[in-house]
Amino acid sequence: MHHKVTIEPFRIKVVEPIKLTSEAERIEILKKAHYNPFLIDAEDVIIDLLTDSGTSAMSANQWGGIMRGDESYAGARSWKRMETAIKELTGYKYILPTHQGRAAEHLLYTKIGGPGKIFISNTHFDTTRANIEFSGAKAFDIPIPEGTQPSSLHPFKGNMDTEKLDRLIIEHGAQNIGAVILTITNNSGGGQPASMANAEAVAEICKKHGVFFIFDMCRVAENAYFIKHREEAYKDWTYEDIAKKMLSLGDGAIMSAKKDALVNMGGFLALNDEQLADECKTTLIVTEGFSTYGGLTGRDMEAIAIGIKEVFEPDYLHYRVTSTAYLGNKIMELGVPIIQPVGGHAVYVDAKAFYPHIPPEQYPGQALAIELYKIGGVRAVEIGSVMFGAKNDAGEFVPASMELVRMAIPRRVYTQSHIDYVIEVFGELMKDRQKVKGIKITKEPAFLRHFTSWFDYID
Ligand code: F0G
Repeated sequence: MHHKVTIEPFRIKVVEPIKLTSEAERIEILKKAHYNPFLIDAEDVIIDLLTDSGTSAMSANQWGGIMRGDESYAGARSWKRMETAIKELTGYKYILPTHQGRAAEHLLYTKIGGPGKIFISNTHFDTTRANIEFSGAKAFDIPIPEGTQPSSLHPFKGNMDTEKLDRLIIEHGAQNIGAVILTITNNSGGGQPASMANAEAVAEICKKHGVFFIFDMCRVAENAYFIKHREEAYKDWTYEDIAKKMLSLGDGAIMSAKKDALVNMGGFLALNDEQLADECKTTLIVTEGFSTYGGLTGRDMEAIAIGIKEVFEPDYLHYRVTSTAYLGNKIMELGVPIIQPVGGHAVYVDAKAFYPHIPPEQYPGQALAIELYKIGGVRAVEIGSVMFGAKNDAGEFVPASMELVRMAIPRRVYTQSHIDYVIEVFGELMKDRQKVKGIKITKEPAFLRHFTSWFDYID
């Protein structure tokens, strides 16, 4: 029998209550939060799709591991388990634990970055770019052209443009390239996968020029799922073997374990070069903690050791990618414009197309995020001109390239009925969408304004 419904391949043993609010209450909550979803208390959110990072539900096995966590300062059993699991998956020789992904980024990019250095990626995630630029180096994003077209159905929109890569390396000189970074899946480009063929082509170019090649492997299992189902040569491979082969092409990797290691906190840096690993280790001990725990507790490390294996379980991965696509496809059927095809961890709504009457300088993405909360208590994040808009030297508004709203799905947290509810909210939003007003910023900080700015409706 062919089943249409992809059931959640788990039962629920522990529950967390969701407080249900009325629209009248949410109107007041929004006002108090100055129309910024980041300033709303989590307790007042019904369905929280702000991020898939650190929001996973852990398994009974992981919680069991938490009790076994060895809290020894040096050489803890839990560290050994985490190190072994990561070595088995990545094949890299030296593993450095960190409290999350950006700490690993900071360790590596301050070492190999600096003024005059160039980094090249399919797309640098915000914290990656920030750490690179903080070191004084420059970061170039070179996704394939299809990667930035919301309606393109290319199966691997997370691929890097290899012709541009070759050209950039030659133009800047191989000796000035800090690293080439392949982000799998490409979060900033819509959670889109990169193919094995692309990773191989990137590796080949890096090898030819003698350039350092590393993976940002936060969502490595989700990327492996897409390869198995979209890249013919890998259809009979296990997800784990696909991930192993991909990682074997690089010189190292960075991972925020808060994504595909199914934990609430953690990360690591993995390298093959002994000298570089030693140098990073010195900084690790100064800034994070001793080299056998980084910023982590023994129980955190135990949960990572278990989660990084669990995530490759075929029924889980099938459910994960299918349920994300379910939300995207259902709202698309309602006429909501989204980035296609749906990626692994999130659905991105094209707010500019959803509210064509709201110009970018009146933040259509922010307007949609506010509406989602007002009508349904659903929290999502604007990825558009609030986050990336700028002013030119003449003080004029320069919009972001796209006006998106990201709904990231926490792993193993919400059931299909929660998602059906979100779909219903979109049905509601479709009705009066031409009446929705533009938004203005009433107070903003100097940096990363999306986190703390205040907003209001334009009358
Ligand atoms: N790299 C990628 C591709 C990411 O998506 C993230 C985090 C990081 C690095 C940094 O890891 O948060 O553990 O320090 N992404 C989260 C998100 C914050 O919501 O997409 P971190």
